[in-house]
Amino acid sequence: TIPVIIDCDPGHDDVFALWLAAGHPALELVAVTTVGGNAPLDHTTRNARIALSVAGVTEVPVAAGAVGPLVRTLQTAEWIHGENGLGGPELPEPAVPLDPRTATELMVDTLARSSEPVAIIATGPITNVAILLRDHPELAGRIREIVWMGGSTERGNVTPYAEFNAWVDPEALDLVVRSGVRFTMVGLNVTHLALVTAAVRGQITAIGTRTAAFGAELLDFFCRTNDEVFGMPDGPLHDPVAVAVLTDPGCVGLRHTRLDVEVAGVETAGATSVDLDGMLGQEPNAWVATELDVDRFWAGVAASVARLA
Ligand code: BDR
Ligand code: CA
Repeated sequence: TIPVIIDCDPGHDDVFALWLAAGHPALELVAVTTVGGNAPLDHTTRNARIALSVAGVTEVPVAAGAVGPLVRTLQTAEWIHGENGLGGPELPEPAVPLDPRTATELMVDTLARSSEPVAIIATGPITNVAILLRDHPELAGRIREIVWMGGSTERGNVTPYAEFNAWVDPEALDLVVRSGVRFTMVGLNVTHLALVTAAVRGQITAIGTRTAAFGAELLDFFCRTNDEVFGMPDGPLHDPVAVAVLTDPGCVGLRHTRLDVEVAGVETAGATSVDLDGMLGQEPNAWVATELDVDRFWAGVAASVARLA
C-alpha cells in the first residue's frame, strides 16, 4: 500500500477524493490537510472532518493549512459549492477532531516518520504543498510523488485559459512544478469526462450506506449548481480522478511532457501551458493526464464508497 496525504478544500468533489482514497486497499490515508479554496479555510477544514466522520474514518489526523494563496487574494467558489463549501445535505457535527498542528507541521511529521516515501494528492489550490517544499526542501526526497487536480491541456473554467485551482494560486503551482519532485497534473481535459450522469447517481445511491446517501445528496446539489453556472447538469467530479492515478493507474493515461505555469499574465494568470507536441524543445518536467477510462473510474469510486460506513 502507498501511504498518502490528501491536501484538499472540500468541496463536493474533494469529499469523493477523500472517500476514494480512504476506502481503497491500495492506499493508506495517513493525513489530511486543508486549504482555503472552494470556501474559506474554516469551512473547508470542518468539511474535511465531516467527510471523514460520515465515512467512519476517525483515525486520520486533519490539520488546517493556508488561509489563502502565497501572494494573491483568496477567491472562493460558492457559486458551485454553496456558502459553506458543501451545500446540499444537512451537515453533522464532525466526530473527527481538528489536529492542533498546522498543515505544514502535520506534513513534516508524517514525512519524517513514515518508513517509506509518502505520496501527496492535492485537490485544491496547491499552497500548502508549495509552503512545505519552500520551507523544508530537505524533505523533498521523502515525497514519493505529487498528484494534483487542476489545470488543463485545453481551456479553463474560471477564465478562458485557467482552471480554478491553478488560477487561485499560480505562484504556488509554479513553485511545486519546478521543485523536481515527480509531479502529475490531472486537469479539466480529463476530469470533464468524469460526468455525474443519472446512471452514476443511481450507482452511488444503490450502495445503500450512510456514506452513499450523504454522497448522493452532495451530487444532487453539485449537479444543480453545475447546471446553473456551466449548463452542465451532469457535473464533472474532478478531484477523485487525481486519486485514481494512484488507486488504479491503468484507468488514467499519462504523458510525460513540458508543463509551465503562467504567473505573469493579465488575462491568462494560472493558465497551464502543456507542450504535448514538443514545440518548445524543453525537457519534460511533468506527467499530464490525457485519457480516462470513465466506466472503470466510476466502478472504483463506487467500490471505495461501498467499503466505508
Ligand atoms: C477544481 O476546483 C474546485 O472547485 C473543485 O473542488 C476542483 O478541485 C475544479 O476546477
Ligand atoms: Ca477541490
